[in-house]
Amino acid sequence: MTAQLIDGKALSQQLRADVKARADQLKAKGIVPGLAVVLVGDNQASQVYVRNKVKSCEECGFHSVLEKYDANMTEAELLARVEALNNDPSIHGILVQLPLPKHIDDHKVIEAISPSKDVDGFHVASAGALMVGEVGFKACTPYGCMKMLESIGMKDLRGKHAVVIGRSNIVGKPMAMMLLAANATVTITHSGTADLAAMTRQADIIVAAVGKLNVLTADMVKPGAVVIDVGMNRNAEGKLCGDVDFDGVKEVAGYITPVPGGVGPMTITMLMVNTLESAERA
Ligand code: GUN
Repeated sequence: MTAQLIDGKALSQQLRADVKARADQLKAKGIVPGLAVVLVGDNQASQVYVRNKVKSCEECGFHSVLEKYDANMTEAELLARVEALNNDPSIHGILVQLPLPKHIDDHKVIEAISPSKDVDGFHVASAGALMVGEVGFKACTPYGCMKMLESIGMKDLRGKHAVVIGRSNIVGKPMAMMLLAANATVTITHSGTADLAAMTRQADIIVAAVGKLNVLTADMVKPGAVVIDVGMNRNAEGKLCGDVDFDGVKEVAGYITPVPGGVGPMTITMLMVNTLESAERA
């Protein structure tokens, strides 16, 4: 193995210790950071995710509420809950876990969240703020990836070429904007890209975020490149794997993030950071 690991678990612990210290300072002034997590339906993966989010709140000394609703909750009922949370002064962040049941319009619900409490960074106002460089909440997964780059001394990315694989609203697009804001030259690749390997071979930084096994293999990576794996997949044996062929790519890359223990823990950590910052602004 030539690549050094970027340990998301260890970095998360460091960042969460700082979050807890700042939360303690706020508490001394009578403000307890509060996060509301709303889950509709019984999606198995979502149940695990929301449990972990609530657990992290407890570890950081935050107030949290978990609202669980039946899959047949109506859109109007959910919108009414969001409005109530928008008006609740003990709540600084609102997270509606996705996916929502099919009869509910995700976009409509996210747009109903007050941008001042949009700690997921999914609201159009948050995406727009990122695009124009204004203050707003950054989407947690790409924000965590930026912190991982910072942790290896890559804060200003002037002169670096970053290639993002995937163009989702939650990861690919905001990732590209954050890399650009850090002065990288950015290429976004996707299912319509003619020759993905030709792009990734030019990259100093590669972020793989498509949700497909082995999208990035060793022959596609420039020696010494930094590889960040956002994927969460199961292989044929049921083992948790990213989008990157880890065993092959680790022999070529300079740095690589593992799955599990890489980007995953960072996503929840950045949710804690956003919630704390929301409370600090309030
Ligand atoms: N579903 C999977 N990941 C996420 C996330 O980061 N936020 C929300 N709201 N839903 C998700």
